Amino acid sequence: MNNSSVIAAAHAVLTCPDPFKKVRLTAKAMQQWRRGTFSQSPNLNKALNLGCAMPDRPARLAKPELMLPKQMPKRGKGGSESGRIALLHALAHIELNAIDLAWDMIGRFCNDFPAQFIADWLSVARDEAKHFLLLSRRLKALGSAYGNLPAHDGLWEAATKTRHDSLARLAIVPLVFEARGLDVTPQTIERLETAKDFISARILEIIYNDEINHVRIGAIWFEHVCHARNEQPELAFHNAVKTYLKGTLRPPFNDKARISAGLLPNFYQPIAM
Ligand SMILES: [Fe+2]
Ligand SMILES: [Fe+2]
Repeated sequence: MNNSSVIAAAHAVLTCPDPFKKVRLTAKAMQQWRRGTFSQSPNLNKALNLGCAMPDRPARLAKPELMLPKQMPKRGKGGSESGRIALLHALAHIELNAIDLAWDMIGRFCNDFPAQFIADWLSVARDEAKHFLLLSRRLKALGSAYGNLPAHDGLWEAATKTRHDSLARLAIVPLVFEARGLDVTPQTIERLETAKDFISARILEIIYNDEINHVRIGAIWFEHVCHARNEQPELAFHNAVKTYLKGTLRPPFNDKARISAGLLPNFYQPIAM
């Protein structure tokens, strides 16, 4: 296995502005990984020659317009159709960032880990690409499209702050943000069902089940890096959250989903506010 071709693939995805092309590149990479032909792709070798340091931020099209989180227009709870479109648009934007975050994890940090790390985060990138497609198709079916509404840039801010350190990145992205998704998604599904939007609810169920696995993968590699550095995992997590998270960990937590993902309460309870 040649890590440099995987890093080149990560670079290609992050520097591609078109979200649908990112999805296609991710699917192709997954296929090549499975067939063991990853290192032979001429495009990857070309990218490799260009130098593959991960870009500071992923490339984006002109739309959606990016705003600061506090500038975002308030959206409803998902009852009206326009409220549901705003919700699905916000989620599609999160999933697009999640594709880039999975690839950035690989591109930046794969040399510090065994090959299973790449396989795991490639499977996360594949899932995030699937989530983005499901949501953007749903937006289309509702007469909208990804890019029609503004979106906020909060997720990449956390990525920037943790780009120097795999321990910090693993703590903040999968174990704070993706775990937070597990806390809030069941209520969102319920709201969509109350609004009789069962198709969107079903999409969120698919996402929810996949995200449990992403938190699990995050927890496994977080423990791995703590072990390698001789750090106590709970303590290292508390320190990373205090250092890199703007806000706090807010209950209520979905303990059942978190625990089934291997994220135990002694990680998040002591620092919850
Ligand atoms: Fe996702
Ligand atoms: Fe995820």
